[in-house]
Parts: sequence; structure tokens; C-alpha cells
Amino acid sequence: MNHAHHVYRDRRAAILSAMREHAGGGLAVVPTAPEVIRNRDSHYPYRSDSYFHYLTGFPEPEAVVALVASPDGDRHLLFCRERNEEREIWDGFRYGPDAAKEIFGFDEAHPIAELDAKLADLCADRPALFTPVGLSEPWDRKVSATLNEVRARVRTGVAAPEQIVDIRSLLDPMRLVKDAHELALMRRAAAISSAAHKRAMAQARPGWHEYQVEAELMHEFLRGGAQAVAYGSIVASGPNACVLHYRDNNRLMGDGELLLIDAGCEYQGYASDITRTFPVNGKFTAAQKAVYELVLEAQQACLGAVRPGASFHDYHKVAERVLAQGLIDLKLIAGPLDAALESGSYKRFYMHRAGHWLGLDVHDAGLYQVKGESVTLKPGMVLTVEPGCYIRGADDIPPEFRDIGVRIEDDVLVTADGIENLTAATPKSVAEVEQVAGSR
Ligand code: GLY
Ligand code: MN
Ligand code: MN
Repeated sequence: MNHAHHVYRDRRAAILSAMREHAGGGLAVVPTAPEVIRNRDSHYPYRSDSYFHYLTGFPEPEAVVALVASPDGDRHLLFCRERNEEREIWDGFRYGPDAAKEIFGFDEAHPIAELDAKLADLCADRPALFTPVGLSEPWDRKVSATLNEVRARVRTGVAAPEQIVDIRSLLDPMRLVKDAHELALMRRAAAISSAAHKRAMAQARPGWHEYQVEAELMHEFLRGGAQAVAYGSIVASGPNACVLHYRDNNRLMGDGELLLIDAGCEYQGYASDITRTFPVNGKFTAAQKAVYELVLEAQQACLGAVRPGASFHDYHKVAERVLAQGLIDLKLIAGPLDAALESGSYKRFYMHRAGHWLGLDVHDAGLYQVKGESVTLKPGMVLTVEPGCYIRGADDIPPEFRDIGVRIEDDVLVTADGIENLTAATPKSVAEVEQVAGSR
């Protein structure tokens, strides 16, 4: 077994022991994602299923991992495509079951074509079946068909699993706390994205289109070795900064405008997620600077509220307080603070949450609240800290504040005694931002 793949075998051992604890053992089956056609003969770039990747590191489509926790011990099985010279000439290398078994640390590997025939045998007489229920209709159909096949054999003396458990309820808490292997990849993803933001900030200029700035981001992502974007890059100038999920990236940028960039690469499956906002011409106006400094103050205060033992919701509450007070000071909403917080009047300008878990998925696996109680932060959790302020143009808004949208977003690891800001290298203070944005 390749050294790097021990980490996946260790994660499978952990889920097997969670299965024993939950139901006295059973069978787990997790498929990877299907290939998806974009149009005619072209596919979307392939991306593994995050849960499957977490358990295997196996990169090919048409693969299923099966794990058995039985009184005889544990078994790790992989189903994958066979070698095929013809297909490999056209599409590239395939491991095939034999090499996959050795390299990825499985006890057995079989051709994916044998999955249906073997699944019912694997399922028979297990106390529980652990699988992602509702992941996709084809997978749900396969699971149902397998269970029915086992049930049809009842007179031969076998029983179908009594319990069907969504394996994601066991995997999500594991994914929420990152291991050392994951943190190394997330630090790399964050570093590449930081460099990309810095490049975009330095290159953007009045007279460019937003997509030209997107190209600068992509340049740095790809040359850094990232395989994809973690989500569609948001390059939003002027009024577009107030469109939270703006994706067109085709506007001509004018002098005196702000540019909000929310972009992050995916590195070996792991997401980064950074937002920076800066003046296209390198110099904030007074009103832009006032809003920027308010959001920066909120973001710094939020960072100070992330630590082990704090609640996930704490830093959102900090963002609400700082932003509401700032909006009162700017005379955009009425005070006093308690009344603004009570009425939610600030939500006209700050309408999203202050952050989310980050990992294999940009909005990563894991609950935020359990039975009404906010999750307590623990070392190894990674989250984003991203307050913002969005002032859409309207008659009751002073002209100098119209169409100002600012968000500042960093990726943060909870450590034993506080935080490690994974994206701290991205310019953020007014002085740094003006220096980099004005450096052309
Ligand atoms: N870019 C997605 C988010 O910030 O949540
Ligand atoms: Mn973001
Ligand atoms: Mn985010």
C-alpha cells in the first residue's frame, strides 16, 4: 500500500468501528459520483463524490466502496473499472481491480460489473446496511433491489438487514474534524487562492471586464496545481457586488468602483473560499472606505470569537452587533443598537450568515445545531468568517453609499488555543489593499 493511502484505510477503520458501535456491525456501501454529459460527446470535468473520496482517495468514476464489519472481522472491498486497452488509448489510464487493491489498501477488489451480483451476498445476514439514502435515484433503486433480492432468499435461511442507516450521519462528524492529511491539503488550497486574490487585486483596472480579472484568478489556480475551482468565481464590480451569488462576470469596470471577488480553488479535493473587496483604481472613496472599515472591524471581531469551546453561532452574533452599530453610526438605520438587533433592520444590508464549515465541499458536511443547541467549536474544525455589507441603490440611501457591496472572507482552523487563519496572506487592511490594488 502506498504510504499516502494509509490515511484512507485509517478512516475506513474508524467508520467500521462506528458501525459496530451503532448497530453491532453491518455492511457499508458508498458509490462515487457519476460522470455527467455536458453536451453530446463532452463531459463535465469529473469530480469524485466527497464521501467516497474521503474513504478511498480513489479518483476514477464507476467505483463503489464496500466495508464489512462482521464477527469474523473487518473487510475492505472496492469495485472499480477493469483495465481496458482500447478505452485507455482514448481516455487514459485505469488502475483496474488488482492494482487498485494494492495501491489503495483494500482486502479485495472486483470489477464494477460484478457489483450487482455480489451486493446481495454481502448484504445477507447483516444487522444493518449503511449507505447514503437519497443520494440519487439510481443508487436508491440499486439499494432497494439489493434488499429485495436478499428478502426473496428468506426461505434459504438468510435475513435482510433490519436497519438502514444513512452513513452520512456517521461520516459527517468525522469530516467535521480535519486530520493532519486534510489540513496539509487545505493549507495548500488556501495558499494558492491567496496568491490568486493578490494577483487579481494587482491586475484589475478600470476599463477591464470582470472576466479578465477571473482569468487572472484562474491563471494562479492552475499554475499552483489546483485541479478546479471550489465553486464558480464571483467577480462582481459596482452594483453587482450587492448580488450575493453574482456569476455573469461580464461587466465593464469603471473608475471609482469597488470590485468584490469571492473565489477559491479546489486542491486535491479540498476547497478554499476567500472574499476580498477593493477599489478598481486603487483608492477607496470616503464612503467606500467607511463601509470597508466597518466590515473589516466586524470580521476582526468575528475572528476573535472563534476558539475552542465557543459556539458556532457566537461569531455570527458578533457580526450582527458590530454591523448593526456601524450602520447606525453611518445613519443608514435607526438606533439604538438593541432596537436594531431586535427588529432586524440591519438585515436589509447584512442578510447572510457569518460563515460555514469548509472541507471537501465548500459548504462542508456537518451539523450547525443539534437539538436546538449550536455546535461547540473544537480543534480541527475549519470554517469561514465572512461578514459583509450590501447597500443597494435606493432613494432613501445617500448617493455616495449607493451600490457599495463589501464582504471580507477568510478560512480559519480552530486550534487548541484559538485559530490559525489559513488565508492570512491575502491583503486585507485598507493600506495593504490600496497598495496592492494601486501597484500597477
Ligand atoms: N463562496 C460561497 C460562500 O462564500 O459561501
Ligand atoms: Mn465565499
Ligand atoms: Mn463562504
